[in-house]
Amino acid sequence: MATLAIHGGTPAVSKLRTEWPVRGDLERENVLDVLDSGSWCSLGHDGSKVTAAMEAFREWIGTKHATACTSGTSALELALRACGIQHGDEIIVPAVTFYASASAIVMAGGVPVFVDIDPNTYQISAEAAAAAVTDRTTGIMPVHYGGYPADMDAISALADKRGLFVVEDCAEAHGSEWRGRKVGSLGSVGAFSFQMGKPLTAGEGGAITFDDDAYSISQYQYPRTRTAADGTEESYHVACGNFRMSEFVGAILLSQISRVREQTEARWANGEYFAEELEKIDGVSALKRDPRITKRGYYFYFIRYDASAWNGVSRDRFMEALRAEGVSCGTAHNDPVYEYAAFKDMPARQGVEVDCPEAERVYHTEVVALGKDFLMYRENIDAVVGAIRKLRENVGDIPG
Ligand SMILES: Cc1ncc(COP(=O)(O)O)c(C=O)c1O
Repeated sequence: MATLAIHGGTPAVSKLRTEWPVRGDLERENVLDVLDSGSWCSLGHDGSKVTAAMEAFREWIGTKHATACTSGTSALELALRACGIQHGDEIIVPAVTFYASASAIVMAGGVPVFVDIDPNTYQISAEAAAAAVTDRTTGIMPVHYGGYPADMDAISALADKRGLFVVEDCAEAHGSEWRGRKVGSLGSVGAFSFQMGKPLTAGEGGAITFDDDAYSISQYQYPRTRTAADGTEESYHVACGNFRMSEFVGAILLSQISRVREQTEARWANGEYFAEELEKIDGVSALKRDPRITKRGYYFYFIRYDASAWNGVSRDRFMEALRAEGVSCGTAHNDPVYEYAAFKDMPARQGVEVDCPEAERVYHTEVVALGKDFLMYRENIDAVVGAIRKLRENVGDIPG
């Protein structure tokens, strides 16, 4: 029997192979192009890198339009504005996501209404969402959390039935597909992040994607003019922020888009392999893939941990032991979002208890989340599986 690393033994994994962000001559050339051109803002010149990046991104996602902005959070806020959110509108959002999903709703003047997750997918429960609709609800925000697509059939059906708009939070799901269509092309508007850790990155940045011209956000971006009913041009007709992406960010993004297909394929193939290997070990499993998911992008790889199959060793103790073996892991975004101080006293909650037992259970006892970077290389999967097997073979030595 091997000695577990938490007891001073040699860790099963000395170092996982990771390289993120992948970068090279292309990024260098594009950034230098911008530097030398002197056109550092996307406005007022031909050959904008931001425009080229959005054309490439739009084409990859499969929408008619993609508009760049400064972050995933601003993309969500702009998407909500594009959909016509009004002050006090209730927007349904899953309890388990990154805090920005709910924060953007508040920034756009709405009220986040938190609903439970489906324990089989960790995504928004369509039944819980349906039960949360009131006459103040105007929209729903499925989050393709970790890259696993939410059930867009059920969400779209609910939205159609109740006349709701759908803002897809795709910040973690670049390249994920539902029935052969990419997330970000399935709802009214998709919102993406290009922050450093995301599956497609430019360091920071964001974009919204949409088909219907009505969702254009040009009034929140540029030019800040409109043609009035009498045909005259009006300037600055709407008070708004400035969410424009810099040309330097556009240069990086354009370069990274040329890498994203290959990276998505590698993570997808290795993720499927990892799921097969996990199936062979008692007490851990991958999320079952809904057959309507035709590709999974990844931000997190979620492992379901079943303490009852590990002599009652708690999920947290298991994670400590796994980390000691050299595998970095955590619970993704920590507590369900409604626990954060920013949302505790939201008007919708006054007198209404938020009730999300699955979100609580999954986050406190079940989920083990690994960041996406290890998924790029098959050898990492074998190494992580080896570490879990070592724990399994020495389960009696893991402190309960
Ligand atoms: C689900 C989700 N939504 C929104 C965001 C916000 O993106 P950003 O950090 O680019 O503002 C993130 C990422 O941080 C996220 O994970």
